Amino acid sequence: MKKIAVLISGSGSNLEAIAKACEKNEINGEIKCVISNVPNAFGLERAKKYNLRSIVIDHSLFDSRIEFEKEIDKYLSLLKIDVIVLAGFMRILGKDITNKYFGKMINLHPSLLPLYPGLNTHLNVLQNKDKSHGISIHYVSAELDAGPIIAQGSIKVNSNQSISVLENRIHEVEHILLPEIVNEICNENIYLKDNIVIFKNNERSGHILKHYDV
Ligand code: GAR
Repeated sequence: MKKIAVLISGSGSNLEAIAKACEKNEINGEIKCVISNVPNAFGLERAKKYNLRSIVIDHSLFDSRIEFEKEIDKYLSLLKIDVIVLAGFMRILGKDITNKYFGKMINLHPSLLPLYPGLNTHLNVLQNKDKSHGISIHYVSAELDAGPIIAQGSIKVNSNQSISVLENRIHEVEHILLPEIVNEICNENIYLKDNIVIFKNNERSGHILKHYDV
C-alpha cells in the first residue's frame, strides 16, 4: 500500500474525496498526512473527521520559500511518502522540492491545461465564452502548472452559467477523476519515465481524456 500525503490550502473537498475512496478501498493507498499551509483551512476539519494526521506549515512564518519547503520535505521524508497530491494547495513550489519529487508529486488544476495556468480559471472560461472547461491532473515540475499531463476531465459550458455553478460542476469532476488517478498511480499503472507519462497495459499515446455530463 502506498503512503500518500495530501497538501491543501483551503476547503479540502478533494482531500475528502481521496479520504473517502481510501476508506472504501478504492485506492490502494493510505493517507499518511495532510499538510496545510493555512492554519484555519477547512480541510483540516475534514482531516479530523477521517482521523488523518494533519500538520500545519504556515508559509508566513518562514523567512524564505526554501525554508518553508524544507519543512514540508522534512515530513515527506520522515513519513516515507510515496505519492504527494497537491489538492487545492495554493503555494508555488520551487525547483529543489519539485525536482526531488518529480514523478511522485501530482497537482490538480481547474482548467484544461495548457489553457489558463494560475488563478481565476473559471472566470477566464466565462469571459472568453469557451464552450468547454475542465480539470487537469499532472506531474509537478518546477514550471507553474506545466508538468506532464496525466489526465483531463472536460465538461460542456452552458451559456449564462454562473461562476459558482461552473465551479461546483468542476468540483464534481475533480471528486471522480482525482481518486481514480491516485489509485492508478498507487497501483503503478501510471508512472513517469524519462519525462513521459507511461500507462501500463495500455497502448495509448497521450493522456487520459474523459468527458463528464455533470
Ligand atoms: C480545486 O478546484 C483545485 O482544482 C483548485 O483549487 C480547488 C481546491 O478545492 N486548485 C488550484 O486552483 C491550483 N492551482 P478543495 O480545497 O475543495 O479541494
